[in-house]
Amino acid sequence: MDKYLHTPTNLKPTVANAIQILESGGVVGIPTETVYGLAACIDQPAGIDQVFALKNRPKDHPLIVHIGDPNALKKYTQEIPHYVEILIQKFWPGPLTLILKKTEAVSDVITAGQDSVAIRMPNHPIALELLKKLKAPVVAPSANKFMQVSPTSRAHVLEGLGEDLLVLEGGECEVGIESTIVDARNPTEAVIVRPGMIGLEDLVAVLKDSRVPVRYFSEAQENQDHQDYTKDVHSGDLQASEKSNALKAPGLCKKHYSPVKKLYLLKSKKLLAELLIQLAKEHGPDVGMYFLSFGFSEELFELYQAMDNYFVTHDMPTMPAQYAQELYGALHEADESHATVIIVECPPKTKEWVAVLDRLVKAAG
Ligand code: TXA
Ligand code: MG
Repeated sequence: MDKYLHTPTNLKPTVANAIQILESGGVVGIPTETVYGLAACIDQPAGIDQVFALKNRPKDHPLIVHIGDPNALKKYTQEIPHYVEILIQKFWPGPLTLILKKTEAVSDVITAGQDSVAIRMPNHPIALELLKKLKAPVVAPSANKFMQVSPTSRAHVLEGLGEDLLVLEGGECEVGIESTIVDARNPTEAVIVRPGMIGLEDLVAVLKDSRVPVRYFSEAQENQDHQDYTKDVHSGDLQASEKSNALKAPGLCKKHYSPVKKLYLLKSKKLLAELLIQLAKEHGPDVGMYFLSFGFSEELFELYQAMDNYFVTHDMPTMPAQYAQELYGALHEADESHATVIIVECPPKTKEWVAVLDRLVKAAG
């Protein structure tokens, strides 16, 4: 059986095509509401191997299992704390991944040898149709090469992983950044290990009556402690292995979700002139810039007039949900542009922006 199904580019593959490939041990790109995933059936070791190989993903980075029915949770996880039911009722299908103790039905390859599994029910009609028709759930990491920006359109997947891959068309992703991951193994607390558009406050509101506290895995995620935005920005060391029962989560790496080009986070447009001097030193006087900013300001106008360099500004939305939806598309565009570097005007350091800031800090890391 062929690894991939070769289809003429003008012919969009169907869910039936995808099922045939997945159930015979192949891989398929699938849309979800967060980002596109690279799927393989959890009972097809050859498919799972291909996922790691195609992504260049190290084997010690576990995969998220995607299910099409909340009742499947009991087959793949055990010792489920009582509050998990509340989270599922409220947020599934949706951009919330739960880490729970796994059963024998989930292989060690999927969980990188850990006894816990990350699991979610995505909220996308095509993904749900596929999952409901398949005999087994799928693993689906984001459909990009390891460490690169996640895809939010079918075109991004084909560009990143090759035209031979079968990728289902599902339009542009509505959420635009990866799911919130909650470590839900402990009955007395819920821990956010990867922030997402379901925020701490949303989880707190839902779990208030059951008196289960919610916290971030690390303070760095909460505070996004980056002081000097004219330099490369690093997020705090998260020391994954010291806390939370040695969870292995590449989302916790310092550098992740990165564009190919170097990305600078800028605290305010007023610091642009300063940054330009630094950029000229680092990249030469012809340094080209792709700037994700909040509007075309006086500072930008002056700069525009004074400069001969390649300079593109991308006006980003001022609301976090719209910003998240557009972010990866803008980073893909910036990578394809003639710019040497990407500059991002930093969003406000408020709780609504935690997930977006997390991705930006890691992209700059
Ligand atoms: O929105 C999403 O979650 C997307 C879409 C495609 O569903 N998927 C996604 O997968 O972002 P991936 O592989 O790019 O990121 C999965 C994250 C990683 O940080 C991984 O380490 C963590 O989930 N993870 C998976 N299994 C885990 C486990 N057993 N314990 C701790 N972390 C786990
Ligand atoms: Mg990923």
